[in-house]
Amino acid sequence: MHLPALVLIATIATVKAGVTLEKRAVTLFTPNGKFDYQLGGAYTPPSGTVTVVRDRTAAVAPNLYNICYINAFQTQPNENDFWKTNHDEVLLRNSTGQYFIDPGWPDEIQFNTTTAQNRNTIAGVLNGWIDECATNGFKGIEPDNLDTFTRSDNLLTKENNFALAALIATHAHNANLAIAQKNLAEFSSEAKAAAGFDFTVAEECQAETECEEYTAVYGDFVLEIEYTDRDDPEEIFQDACAARGTEYSIILRDRFLVTPSEPDYHYEEC
Ligand SMILES: *[C@@H]1O[C@H](CO)[C@@H](O)[C@H](O)[C@H]1NC(C)=O
Ligand SMILES: *[C@@H]1O[C@H](CO)[C@@H](O)[C@H](O)[C@H]1NC(C)=O
Repeated sequence: MHLPALVLIATIATVKAGVTLEKRAVTLFTPNGKFDYQLGGAYTPPSGTVTVVRDRTAAVAPNLYNICYINAFQTQPNENDFWKTNHDEVLLRNSTGQYFIDPGWPDEIQFNTTTAQNRNTIAGVLNGWIDECATNGFKGIEPDNLDTFTRSDNLLTKENNFALAALIATHAHNANLAIAQKNLAEFSSEAKAAAGFDFTVAEECQAETECEEYTAVYGDFVLEIEYTDRDDPEEIFQDACAARGTEYSIILRDRFLVTPSEPDYHYEEC
């Protein structure tokens, strides 16, 4: 008996969705506003910070531009049981049929992005997290490990991963969230074209001499982190600051991004 009304609502919703897409309220951070990268634990940001990246399980920092970190192309160790129980088919397997552990990250299993069905299943979970990020007040998403295919013994392809990226980027945009390219500097223009990324989180682009590959595509919408465990980290940081420090915020941090209460904590910004 409610059918006609439902049809009408659906029509309006479709039109509104179209309008929202055109005039979506995605906002970006101020590029040269001080930022911090807090994946090793959330803490009160250094004075003057305006942009902060935190894990999706953390609360937002009040009155700052908060970016929500999600592991989008492989598991987090503490989520392995969830995936095995609920979506085992999207966990990549190696030649002996065992879970394909990312060579760089112990206990993190790469996602099998090779089929549309798998990508939809993975995106179904990630998009739920993205919605939670939006509800919790985050303004942007950092989906990590777009580059799993480069460490997958050729089980995955770039196209597979970009197709998953497109699914979550569309969802993020519809939730009025900006979304970052993370990793794969050398494929920045291709990644942006495929997924519609808005900015980039550039780890060690000075140390790896690839910052220009990001800035060519994202301009000043770059958040750059260099790390103290490299050779001559201060020189790397000072060179980065001299080259781009007036354009956008660059930080030098300890590798594990620990909180100030731990001895290894390091934070410099320019
Ligand atoms: C990837 O997933 C597809 C579909 O479930 C499956 O057929 C294939 O064997 C999987 N490949 C690997 C390497 O895990
Ligand atoms: C398959 O992955 C398991 C870990 O899940 C590892 O112990 C094993 O050595 C791998 N086998 C091959 C052939 O790479």
